[in-house]
Amino acid sequence: MQNQIDSIKDDVLARIAAAGDPRALDEVRVEALGKKGAITGLMKQLGGLSPEERRETGAALNLLKDEVAAAIDARKALLERAALDARLAAERIDVTLPPRPEAAGSVHPVSQVTDEVIAIFCEMGFAVAEGPDIEDDWYNFGALNIPEEHPARQDHDTFYLPAEEGERRPVLRTHTSPVQIRHMQASTPPLRIIAPGRTYRSDSDVTHTPMFHQVEGLVIDETTHLGHLKGCLRDFVEAFFQVDNVPMRFRPSYFPFTAPSMEVDIGCSFKGGELKIGEGDDWLEILGSGMVHPNVLRAGGIDPDRYQGFAFGMGIDRIAMLKYGIPDLRAFFDADLRWLRHYGFRALDLPTLYGGLAR
Ligand code: PHE
Repeated sequence: MQNQIDSIKDDVLARIAAAGDPRALDEVRVEALGKKGAITGLMKQLGGLSPEERRETGAALNLLKDEVAAAIDARKALLERAALDARLAAERIDVTLPPRPEAAGSVHPVSQVTDEVIAIFCEMGFAVAEGPDIEDDWYNFGALNIPEEHPARQDHDTFYLPAEEGERRPVLRTHTSPVQIRHMQASTPPLRIIAPGRTYRSDSDVTHTPMFHQVEGLVIDETTHLGHLKGCLRDFVEAFFQVDNVPMRFRPSYFPFTAPSMEVDIGCSFKGGELKIGEGDDWLEILGSGMVHPNVLRAGGIDPDRYQGFAFGMGIDRIAMLKYGIPDLRAFFDADLRWLRHYGFRALDLPTLYGGLAR
């Protein structure tokens, strides 16, 4: 019997050492220690031995079982380690490699500038409001004191959508001013909001595109006046362009929804195809503004005998062109990757007043 034990031991230990993967190892275990295994078979023969032999052989068999089990455990741990090492090597990622250039996106100047505008006005205590791109005729025109036959309706080169049966034609909003009305209806003064978003007019040249971006501003309180409007816009312009004393021109103007009304221009130069602000003797109009017309307050459900305030509508694309020296507005929406790479911003450059707005 001892001979058998010795030869099984040599055989099993050799096969354990040769097992190349957990499955092969398990086969060896079953063949040695399983119900029909070689060692189990010897155990079964113990019954036929004399008490003396049984004790001795039994002890030797138990020793063998323990030895084999330990060898299997050790081999198993080794194989698992090797498998893990192989997997780690196969799935290795070199985190120091730079990202592939084609995978690197950039933030569009319009998005960046919108975030900058929001950062500045929110610092002044404004909240952000929104409205739909597809508007009711009433919100886009009627409520803003632009009656049916008013020439402003033609001025806006409106895109109309087909009307539902018996309804008026919806429009692609020609400005962000309808958000004024929606916000007045939804809240009670004092009001202090900006409303950035897309706007649409059938117009296209170097400084106009059929879809463009505006940010509306609205402040309503009991004593808000034109001086607040001018101060607010000057603070904005200086924070946005990060230049003191930007030349600004407040021109008397006309909008049906404000009285009095002013258009605001910023001093700039267009020399050599490059646009620079704060110098030169050209002006670029960036916004329309004024004191909110009593009829507009009424349309928004606000009592004009108690409340007054100002509103403005500024071209986001315009101020982006000025700040970042981008000469042609149409290129903004060409989706030309070379342009985006040149004028785009890194995704993590979030504008803040303390960290700087332009980086
Ligand atoms: N809605 C006007 C425009 O698009 C701008 C404006 C807004 C003017 C608010 C005055 C007050 O031209």
